[in-house]
Amino acid sequence: MTVPGYPVAGTHTKYYGGQVCRLPLLPENNFFPDLDSISDDVWEKTKMLVLNYPNSPTGQVATKEFYSKVIELAKEKCFIVVQDAAHILLTFRGEPLSFLQVPGAMDVGVEVHSMSKGFDMIGWRIGWVCGNAKIVQAFADVKDNCDSSTTSRKARSNLERMWFSVRCSRGKLFPLHEVAKGSSRGT
Ligand SMILES: Cc1ncc(COP(=O)(O)O)c(C=O)c1O
Repeated sequence: MTVPGYPVAGTHTKYYGGQVCRLPLLPENNFFPDLDSISDDVWEKTKMLVLNYPNSPTGQVATKEFYSKVIELAKEKCFIVVQDAAHILLTFRGEPLSFLQVPGAMDVGVEVHSMSKGFDMIGWRIGWVCGNAKIVQAFADVKDNCDSSTTSRKARSNLERMWFSVRCSRGKLFPLHEVAKGSSRGT
């Protein structure tokens, strides 16, 4: 996983007896992990690569080329990719880029989203995972057995909030505060 960053994937990997390989995000690499520096020994043991773009705390945004290289490596070295997109709706340089938009991504990975940032719901601890069906199912199996879900009423209000946001922005996703500004102007 890349560091510095949100530590939860690493903590849980250790809980389950896994080893964490820390990939530093450095200014000289433009805040991308140096995938070419990883030894064959590490690749052989690699089961999962955890990324986070738009990245917190560096602010770097992923490119299509970077994701394509990750996908190619995932196929060659046989690992899955978990791309944490918690900050994707806070992209200010053009359209947000989802890992899943890149050809081949659905074969190797998933993207994890959160209602916290783009939907102003910090602290609700609600999000979703999408992408490769087998990996999504694996997330569901683990989640079913290690914690409880939000209430269906909360989940429903969540969905309504998302759809409201999508409808009001005429097909474009905007953070909720932008939508609220639009609706007060009668948009
Ligand atoms: C990069 C990153 N991923 C995931 C999360 C967790 O998001 P949530 O608030 O949905 O638990 C955070 C929260 O700060 C984060 O910064």
